[in-house]
Amino acid sequence: MDVRDRVAANHAIWQRWAALHVPSGFYDAEGFIADPASRPFDSIVSGLLGDITGMRALHLQCHFGLDTLRLALLGATATGLDFSDVAIAAARDLSVRSGIPATFIEGDVLAPPTEVSEGGFDVIFTSYGVISWLPDLEAWARTIASRLAPGGVFKIAEMHPTLWIFDDESDDPEPMVRYSYFMREALEWEERGSYAAPGDEYIGTSHSWQHTFEEIIGVLVRAGLRIEELREFPLLAWKYMTAMVEKEPGLFGMPDTQPEVPLTFTLTARKPE
Ligand SMILES: C[S@@+](CC[C@H](N)C(=O)[O-])C[C@H]1O[C@@H](n2cnc3c(N)ncnc32)[C@H](O)[C@@H]1O
Repeated sequence: MDVRDRVAANHAIWQRWAALHVPSGFYDAEGFIADPASRPFDSIVSGLLGDITGMRALHLQCHFGLDTLRLALLGATATGLDFSDVAIAAARDLSVRSGIPATFIEGDVLAPPTEVSEGGFDVIFTSYGVISWLPDLEAWARTIASRLAPGGVFKIAEMHPTLWIFDDESDDPEPMVRYSYFMREALEWEERGSYAAPGDEYIGTSHSWQHTFEEIIGVLVRAGLRIEELREFPLLAWKYMTAMVEKEPGLFGMPDTQPEVPLTFTLTARKPE
């Protein structure tokens, strides 16, 4: 199957999922609007972002904008980018309803529109469930490098690449190795409902791509960024495997009876002055 057809299938799924996710309890957008300060970033992302007051922030793959609004609450001038117009419309609506100003732009992170200005951002942020939707990380890194201002910084919090090897569909309490860490081909998933709005309705077949640390760091370095920090955590913002338990608000890990597994990484990379 052609890569463009796989991306088009993913786009169709995200259009459906955006509509399902806005009213979902998983995202609790209404709770956020009622009391934004009570639903901050988790401790991993807060630690990654640090003080972004006054910065021009670009949020890649912003979905329907909750995290973009959180960036604004931290004092940044926030812009969200996503290829789903359903998600972008919902994000604009949430911005108005919450009274938290932010700009939302529809576009592909691998070929963003000119409104996402070159050199226009002090910080670019993306998180949790993003790079597996991208077949081409070289183009992704070029977007990041071109949109950062000189001296600007890229920050990502994402599922640890090692986690991809485990079977997330197994009910076995022990992690089961199922996939090659070095898999290059797309994986296909029959989607019923979504991770945030479970249900039996067939939504479509999604396509994902695994990316190793060598690839993630390599594309950023080749795009001209300098890696400043890489961190690994035995915690993840969602329950990826059956055995995982909530360890702190909004973060899950393996039970204490089992060895710790790397679940999330964060990375900070800077564009030279
Ligand atoms: C798992 S969601 C990110 C969720 C985000 N971490 C949050 O909690 O709001 C992934 C997002 O990536 C977007 N996406 C996927 N491929 C994209 C692309 N090529 N360009 C822009 N957005 C894309 C989808 O529309 C979706 O909103």
